[in-house]
Amino acid sequence: MAKIRVGVAGYGVIGQRLADGVALQEDMELVGVADVAPTLAVRALKEKGMPYDLYTALPEKRGELDALKIPVSGTLEDLVKKCDVMLDATSAGVGAKNKELYAKHGKKGIFQGGEKNAVADVFFHGYANYEKGIGAQFLKLTSCNTTGLIRAVDCIDRKAGVERVAITIIRRVADPGDYHRGLTNALQIDHAPSHQALDLMTIMPHVGATGILVHTPVTHGHIITVVMTTKKELSVENALEFFSEHPRIRPVSIDEGFLGNASLFRYARDLGNPRGDMYEIAVWRDSIVKSGKDLMFAINIPQEAVVIPENIDAVRACTGMQKDRIEGTDATNRYLGIGKWKA
Ligand SMILES: NC(=O)c1ccc[n+]([C@@H]2O[C@H](COP(=O)([O-])OP(=O)(O)OC[C@H]3O[C@@H](n4cnc5c(N)ncnc54)[C@H](O)[C@@H]3O)[C@@H](O)[C@H]2O)c1
Repeated sequence: MAKIRVGVAGYGVIGQRLADGVALQEDMELVGVADVAPTLAVRALKEKGMPYDLYTALPEKRGELDALKIPVSGTLEDLVKKCDVMLDATSAGVGAKNKELYAKHGKKGIFQGGEKNAVADVFFHGYANYEKGIGAQFLKLTSCNTTGLIRAVDCIDRKAGVERVAITIIRRVADPGDYHRGLTNALQIDHAPSHQALDLMTIMPHVGATGILVHTPVTHGHIITVVMTTKKELSVENALEFFSEHPRIRPVSIDEGFLGNASLFRYARDLGNPRGDMYEIAVWRDSIVKSGKDLMFAINIPQEAVVIPENIDAVRACTGMQKDRIEGTDATNRYLGIGKWKA
């Protein structure tokens, strides 16, 4: 079977990681990446020897790239024409405009959490509703928090049935290196219910969800606490066993040294993972407790990398590379090296 040709629009925090993730898929070809300006990521791409071809989304500003001797392989439209699927990781809201270009050339488009739901035919999660994405033209991925949260909720739902969840999101307010947003010495609370709880119900309409979000002045991952009502009552041991079986959930414990979000970030760097990324969410063994018949636990969401596997699942679903949820997600996991730690 010919390799599926994939392009990435927007070479920022998410786009760089999507490009690296697609490049690892042996059944996909990364045709190139597109951006608008000589951003630091684009300069780093040049300094690394242009492992990926660069296309410009603003041809009228190509001179800025030429002046820095950054090779340009064409325009965003040229890239779109060469691809089967575009992964759009442009700044929130730009994807809706790019969609017109993808539609004009009859290509598939996959958008990120910052776009409005209306941009896509299907709001997608690789584990929870893979089947809905099969053959669709436009998919939208869930945000980082929702992606990780749904992994955990879907994992238990398939074993014991989930009726309700109530979540608290302790949200990192910015990515490392960001200058454009941040809080200092303050926590900020959002209106409830948080969009992540509402998004979860869009993808898993049989689960009632609500939640509160608190922005915190840190950059290395979100922590979500979940209170979960299951149809079949579960023990702490049952829950841990189910989480342990999931390829994209990694049980960790405080006694091992995983004291919080920063320990996981440091561990990913010690593993030599590019940029200190981790594709898996972590669940703290020590956090799994019972509240009456309900379960409560805490998960860590590495916000910059967590959505990459589900984006690649989306490429597989929309192009029909794999028509089965487990076959699709397993292929993504294999090429990304997910679950190596279990060996
Ligand atoms: N940062 C995260 O942790 C995170 C996590 C999950 C989802 N997301 C979502 O991913 C999307 C991208 O976020 P990000 O954090 O990577 O943003 P970012 O600002 O790091 O990257 C966006 C990139 O798009 C480029 N761009 C802007 N207009 C463009 C155009 N017309 N054509 C091509 N490129 C263009 C920008 O120059 C920039 O390099 C958003 O929808 C966001 O909500 C972000």
